[in-house]
This record gives sequence, C-alpha cells and structure tokens, in this order.
Amino acid sequence: MATVALAIFVALFSLLPPSLSAKGHHYKPGDNVVIYVNKVGPYFNPHETYHYYQLPVCRPDKVETRSLTLGEILDGDRMAVSLYDVNFGQQVDNKELCTMKLTTDYIEQLKEAIEDLYYFEFVVEDIPLRGFVGHFEESGFIPHTHKLYLWVHHHFHLEFNDDQIIYANVSTRDKQPVSLDDTIIAPLEIRFTYSVSWHETKTTYAQRASKLIKDNSFFPKTLEVHWLSIINSMVLVFLLLGFVVIILMRVLKNDFARYNLDEDEVEDLDQDENGWKIIHTDVFRFPPYKTLLCAILGVGSQFLTLATSILVMAMLGMFNVHHHGSMNTAAILIYALTSCISGYVSSNFYRKLSGDNWVWNIVLTSCLFAVPFFMIWSIVNTVAWAYDSTQALPFTTILLLLMIWLLIGYPLTVIGGILGKNMAETFDAPCRTKNIAREIPVVPWYRSGFMHCIIGGFLPFSAISVELYYIFATLWGREQYTLYGILFVVYGILLSVTACISIALTYFQLSNEDYRWWWRSIFSAGSTGFFVFLYAIFYYYKRSSMSGALQTMEFFGYTMLACYVFFLMLGTVSFFASLKFIRYIYVNLKMD
Ligand SMILES: *[C@@H]1O[C@H](CO)[C@@H](O)[C@H](O)[C@H]1NC(C)=O
Repeated sequence: MATVALAIFVALFSLLPPSLSAKGHHYKPGDNVVIYVNKVGPYFNPHETYHYYQLPVCRPDKVETRSLTLGEILDGDRMAVSLYDVNFGQQVDNKELCTMKLTTDYIEQLKEAIEDLYYFEFVVEDIPLRGFVGHFEESGFIPHTHKLYLWVHHHFHLEFNDDQIIYANVSTRDKQPVSLDDTIIAPLEIRFTYSVSWHETKTTYAQRASKLIKDNSFFPKTLEVHWLSIINSMVLVFLLLGFVVIILMRVLKNDFARYNLDEDEVEDLDQDENGWKIIHTDVFRFPPYKTLLCAILGVGSQFLTLATSILVMAMLGMFNVHHHGSMNTAAILIYALTSCISGYVSSNFYRKLSGDNWVWNIVLTSCLFAVPFFMIWSIVNTVAWAYDSTQALPFTTILLLLMIWLLIGYPLTVIGGILGKNMAETFDAPCRTKNIAREIPVVPWYRSGFMHCIIGGFLPFSAISVELYYIFATLWGREQYTLYGILFVVYGILLSVTACISIALTYFQLSNEDYRWWWRSIFSAGSTGFFVFLYAIFYYYKRSSMSGALQTMEFFGYTMLACYVFFLMLGTVSFFASLKFIRYIYVNLKMD
C-alpha cells in the first residue's frame, strides 16, 4: 500500500516542470540550436497570451510543436519550432528569415498588436527571450501624430560556457523598423532578417538560474519592497494581538472570580446572574446545517495544509521562478493528495455532532470547492477559447486534470471520510444542554452579527493589506516576489490575528447571552475574503493596467475563487479557535 502511494506520488511530481538547475544540453560546435517561438500578448495583460504564429510572421510550412509539461501548459506556453537557423558557436550576420507580402488584413492585425504593446516570447534552452513586436510613437497635441513601426530584425545574443548555453537574449533595435503608416499601400513586401552573436562566459550551468533572475531586463519593474511598512504593520499587529490577549485574560479572570464564588458570597454581592455563565445549558447546542458546517471545516483544513506546504516548498526554493506553472502544478497535486484531510476532518466532526447522513456529508465536502472551481474555470476557459488564446487548456490537459480529481482527489476524500467517521469520539461537551432553548436577547446594532463580520474581517485584512499588493503584483503582474520567508511570517500572523479576533468576538457574543456562535465564528473571520475581494477591485482599476474582456474575466473569476478559499481557511481557523476557547472557559466554570 505504502509503496503504491509512494509510486503515485513520484509519478505525479514528475509532472512538474524541470527547474533551471537541471542538467542542460551539451552541444558540439556547429550543432543545431533550436529556438522555439512561444507566445505573444499585450504587455500589460500577463494572462492574455496567444500563439506566436497567430500573428502574420515568418513561419515554416509545417508547424512542429514541442511537448510541454503541465506547468507550461497552465502558464499559457505553446512552443513551436522557429525558422531561425542557429548553430552552436557560429556567428550569423544579417541573414534573411523570410520575405512576406503583407495584405491589408495582416497590416491591420499587426497595427492592432503594436498599439496593444504586444511582446513576443521565444525560448532557447528553457531561457525565455522577450521583445516587442513593434514600437509606437505618439507625439504632439496638434497636429496629433500617431506612428506605428514594426521591428523586422532580431539579434540573438547567446552566451556559452564550454559546450553549454548559459544565457541568451534578443534585441530588435539593431535595425531601423518599418513604418506602418496609413499611407502605405498593400501588399507591403517586408524582408525579415536576423543575426546571431556568440560570447564566451565564465558562468557555469549551475549558476545560470541566479543570473537569469537578476537579468530580467525586459520586465524591469522589480518589486521595491517597503520594508518599513511591512515591519510597521507587523509591529502594529503584534501590539494588537497583545492587547486583545491581555484584556481578554483580565476580563476572564474577573468572570471566573465572580462566577465561581460560593453561594453565600453571591448573596452578599447581590448580583443578578447574567453574562456567558447562564447560557451554559445552550452553548453546546449543535448548530443547524451541520453538514455544510462540517464540509466548510474539512475543506478549510485542507487548504490550510495546502497553503502551508506551498509556502514551505517555495521557501526551500523548489519552484522555477520563471513560471507560475510549476507552482500551479504543485498546488494541483497537493490539492488532490490532501483531499483525505478534508474528508477526515469533515466526517469526523460530523459524527461528533451526531450527524447520521455521512454519505451526503462526504459528497458535499468533495464538491464544496471543486464545483465552484469548475464553474468559474469553464467560463474563463470558454472565453479564452473564443479568443483563441493559449490560456485555453487543450482537451488532453482538461482530461488529465479531471482524472487527477476523479482518480486521486475524490477517492482520497472518501477514504479520509470513512477513517474520520470510524475514529470519531463523542463531542464530550463540558456542560449538559437542556432540551428547551433559551430565548436570545435582542442586541443593539453595533453588537449584531453584521458588525462582527465587519470587525472580524477587517482586522485580519489590515494585517495583510501591505503584503497583498506584492501578492497581486506577482500573480497578476510581471513582478517577481521571492521573499517567501516574509510571506510565511505574514501567513502566520494572519492566522494568529484571525484566531484572536475570533475568540474576542465570540466572547462578546456569549456575554450577550447569544449562544449561536457556531456559524457566527465562521462568518466573522471568514469575511476577510470579502475585504480581499474589495481590495482586488481597487487593484484592478487603480494599480494595474489590465484591460480587455479576457483578462478581466480571468482576473475576477480567479480572484473570486481565491477569496472563497480565504473564507474557507480563515473561517476554519476562527471556528476551531472559538471552540477551543469556549471549551476552556466552560470547563473552568464551577457548575452548581
Ligand atoms: C543582452 O545581454 C547582453 C549581455 O548581458 C547585454 O549587453 C545586452 O544589452 C542585452 N540585450 C538586451 C536587448 O537586453
């Protein structure tokens, strides 16, 4: 059994794209070096990509594609062999690639691409080479001129060490571009050319990854990390946490002193009983919609595990920084493998809450994330497909993902569920629950559930708001954020803030003699997801230059999904923190 599991695990991780430090190809002088053409797309829409040959460019009669890893496909890569004839160590100057007759349609297509700041990406030896398709100049208010130019020459700069390629880039500016003005007459005949220069370098193959990261001149926006604001927010959060913990401890100590007095002392003090003590006969009354509650806790726990493992793997440098694809693949695989956690937690807690329809519970658990994901993904994929974008997944990839879910994710949920059900103990509440429920007093608006959600969502959100920009800029921009250590600390802070706020809010709720804390605790901190979504709207309109239906759909679709995951994760943390807290205070209460 264990060996089978290990074999599956190893097989799955072989789907990960090779990292840059993998053993490279060894060339003999004069060997053919294949340059692949990959994708093109608007510079400001990182997730809107098309195949290079969708543009009117020089192309072979028969397009030969290269097989890709899952991560590359998810990243929108679609590689095909180019016409560039490059041989190891051989200089080429000014060789013709092809001569094209551009029709009116082609010219229009190129003009649109240049106006949208299209860039192209070639790949040689896993090194991405990027450049702009054209160039446009806008000058003067009156008369307003608008000039479009097409780059027609590519110069490849290749660096080698002994018999291996270490570094490469492409430049387009070595020759004057061709103007695509309104005055030109179609068909326009254009001669595309290229040149290649080889340079020796001392960098070894093993060191090339770090050189590639540093020399990312095409996307020069390096993230300026505002250390001060990060430290500032951390200090504030720690102070806040400290205050909450101290105040709560004092209040609780008072409460215990008051509640645990002997009978005669109580008479002296002439207190009427109120506060959280009197609801001890109700506080462990099981909530409605148990199935859904348990499913949320199950899937939330699964994502907590997933997020933690991804962050740890990233800190250990297990991902290829040039592709989000490697991280996506890892996330998919870990999601599938951690499905047993969701099944276990969900059905275990369900059984504790004396639920009896465990089949329905497991079905709901396995659908709770998969169904919304599938719906959003199919909408986005359909739009991408209609746009003929390489972001639309090929049929075989869809099948593969479906298989991963059907053959690994779903069965593991069921196995985890059966284990959880059989290993469940009784809930073991510290106080007995009476048959008849107490009436819940009416509370003023500022103590309502809605306000709890606002407070409970806003505080965790503010703890991460500074880092959110970096996360968004990395996922939806060109920046590279490699400070996973900070991210990990922030993640830890986020979870602790959530737990503290949840405990404080639950305490207030119980003090108001409202014992319906089960669902409230999930929503009060889970609402952080809603605030993150508000931030996403702000980011989209104010901090990014994304545009167009495809990119907008992708952004909001996947952001919505991410916020939903936030809700599940933080709701789970909040719930278990509250549960632990409530157990603690009622265990320490002297019962009559
Ligand atoms: C390509 O790399 C060389 C060496 O690092 C550098 O001098 C050159 O400016 C680069 N060209 C482009 C277009 O980035």
